[in-house]
Amino acid sequence: MPALGVNIDHVATIRQARLTIEPDPVWAAALAELGGADGITLHLREDRRHIQDRDLRVIRETVQVKMNLEMAAEEDITAIAVDVGPEQVCLVPERREEVTTEGGLDVLTHRDRIVRRIEQLQAANIEVSLFIDPDRSQIDAAQGLDADAVELHTGRYADAENDEEMQQELVALTTAGEHARNLGLRLNMGHGLTYRNVRQVAQIPGVSELNIGHSIIARAVMVGMERAVREMKQLVSA
Ligand code: PXP
Repeated sequence: MPALGVNIDHVATIRQARLTIEPDPVWAAALAELGGADGITLHLREDRRHIQDRDLRVIRETVQVKMNLEMAAEEDITAIAVDVGPEQVCLVPERREEVTTEGGLDVLTHRDRIVRRIEQLQAANIEVSLFIDPDRSQIDAAQGLDADAVELHTGRYADAENDEEMQQELVALTTAGEHARNLGLRLNMGHGLTYRNVRQVAQIPGVSELNIGHSIIARAVMVGMERAVREMKQLVSA
């Protein structure tokens, strides 16, 4: 049964829309924990469009479950991560113009930069996950750089336009996941997962953690954070 990591970035997005103090992602993290989240995931972007440095520090002090920090493989953000000390960092590609993380990290092209970040983070006892597409050569490269985990990008599965395409993407995720586990990598997945499509991904053998943001926060606006997380947790553990 996979663990559920709840991504709370969107709560900070609403706050930043008015540059005010509410809603506070720190509260959202606490309520997610009460709803049964196994982890809190947050992305400190270089442009600070949602999560702020202060959020990271206060959540580090107040949340008891696992903290998973998503970040670009940059020197300045790495220094902040080492200082704050989340249990896990997930390295993601980042482009300023994107609405959300659009594709996986290209570990082959950015090998040198990524390996330096992995070394710095692991030296600070932070486990490192690489957000990659379900692609064999990217998984091999992640293992070659001594990453602890991979997070397979489930976006193509989530965007599938019919059942056949969806099944194809599930097979791709399952095969890639098996390959990652055979290489000794912990297997996480995320992006675009919803109350409707999560069940089949949660059943892929060996998935350790699912990271879900948009769909949970969208439901939380209607039913409250704690209930939204509890309902997702039920689906993930079913
Ligand atoms: N995993 C990673 C690495 C991400 O960048 C994101 C989006 O921030 C998610 C999971 C969550 O995606 P979604 O908001 O579509 O659930």
